[in-house]
Amino acid sequence: MWLHLAVLVGLFCLLRWYRERQVVSHLRDKFVFITGCDSGFGNLLARQLDLRGLRVLAGCLTEQGAKQLRSQTSDRLQTVILDVTKPESVAAAAEWVKERVGDRGLWGLVNNAGISTPTALNEWLTKQDFMKILEVNLLGVIDVTLNVLPLVRKARGRVVNVSSVMGRVALFGGGYCMSKYGVEAFSDSLRRELSYFGVKVVMIEPGYFKTTVTSPKALSQSLQASWNQASPEIKELYGEKFLAHFLNSVDLLETTCCQDLSLVTNCMEHALTACHPRTRYSPGWDAKLIYLPMSYLPSFLVDLMCTGIAPSLLRPCNPRLGCIVGGVAYRVGRGCVGGVKYSGEQSSPGRVSPGRPSHLIAISSPVSSWDITEDSGILGRNKLCSEKLRSVALLCVLFPHQPLKALSLMALLPP
Ligand SMILES: NC(=O)c1ccc[n+]([C@@H]2O[C@H](COP(=O)([O-])OP(=O)(O)OC[C@H]3O[C@@H](n4cnc5c(N)ncnc54)[C@H](OP(=O)(O)O)[C@@H]3O)[C@@H](O)[C@H]2O)c1
Repeated sequence: MWLHLAVLVGLFCLLRWYRERQVVSHLRDKFVFITGCDSGFGNLLARQLDLRGLRVLAGCLTEQGAKQLRSQTSDRLQTVILDVTKPESVAAAAEWVKERVGDRGLWGLVNNAGISTPTALNEWLTKQDFMKILEVNLLGVIDVTLNVLPLVRKARGRVVNVSSVMGRVALFGGGYCMSKYGVEAFSDSLRRELSYFGVKVVMIEPGYFKTTVTSPKALSQSLQASWNQASPEIKELYGEKFLAHFLNSVDLLETTCCQDLSLVTNCMEHALTACHPRTRYSPGWDAKLIYLPMSYLPSFLVDLMCTGIAPSLLRPCNPRLGCIVGGVAYRVGRGCVGGVKYSGEQSSPGRVSPGRPSHLIAISSPVSSWDITEDSGILGRNKLCSEKLRSVALLCVLFPHQPLKALSLMALLPP
């Protein structure tokens, strides 16, 4: 049985490998229009396709970016200034593309332009902050696509939309993840509609790569700006230490980002040149090993993993003083914390005046400075053995919406 299964899987892989190796003919006659070519993936893809012999029409946001790109490529590559948020700019660029492609139509449209800021916790942001990202990453994609779609249909070509793994799991607040979820929905519906006309719609869902979009400096500045504009109530609620933790975790992002952008552009190139492109490409080890598997898990497990991965981002607590809405936290095992959150006010550092249990939380945290077990008077015990603490955390996880049940079970645990 296992042998049969292995043979079947092997045959499937072989067939898929063979299908994916088939390349479209007459590539040198094909036009590809790419947005956001000033830097990052768009810039590298433009140069890569130019080397491959395709006719690249590169949309750049700035004249400086366009000039620089032209200086690095052949005369076949042409540039146009394009701001995807401005309808007149999009219409003018579409007209420019139409003049160049003529009757052949446009073989490929790559919707790549995108931004990642302002990004912060949802309640630190304004409606305008959300709109700023959605205008570029989602409405820009839709506007450009609608404007050049007749040309793509004429060539029975490809639409390649750059989404993100954040379009599969929303790990942080702000407009970015929403915009990418939107790109996924737009692409899925468009793919089905255009399949009747021989047009293929492909999504690229990269993990974290080192570009301007993931620049810790830009993200930190945006975070600080959102904090500065937040209301005094929000600032009091979260506290400066929380902001510092948040900023530190943003700095760590750089160490986890992949530097090899060609992993992404190779997928884009395959989507444009293969006879049988995939519907989705997920370049990056983090996309394949973490975010995609995560996207298939039940929500409660993803929530749990998120609080484990980024505890300081999800917990509006001062790690030294305990939960600011009041509560008791217990160290669970090495570097982990399980806790019960109470509606009572915090009375002094590390102490709480418990009111009614309002919510049960189970969190794991690498915060080593969290040391308030001495003051955990909620169950009338000061120090809990680590085994019991693990059970507490487990109960919190098992009964997240039934605090009383979890509490009564906790009370049954041996001291
Ligand atoms: N880097 C990652 O880890 C990652 C992961 C998943 C998805 N993505 C997506 O990949 C795409 C490309 O980003 P990237 O990582 O290569 O970052 P990038 O280097 O910042 O590239 C984005 C490009 O879009 C341009 N752009 C910004 N606003 C625009 C507008 N209103 N109109 C036209 N162009 C505009 C930028 O121009 P300027 O340079 O002049 O500002 C830049 O050339 C984005 O859609 C991003 O969301 C990136």
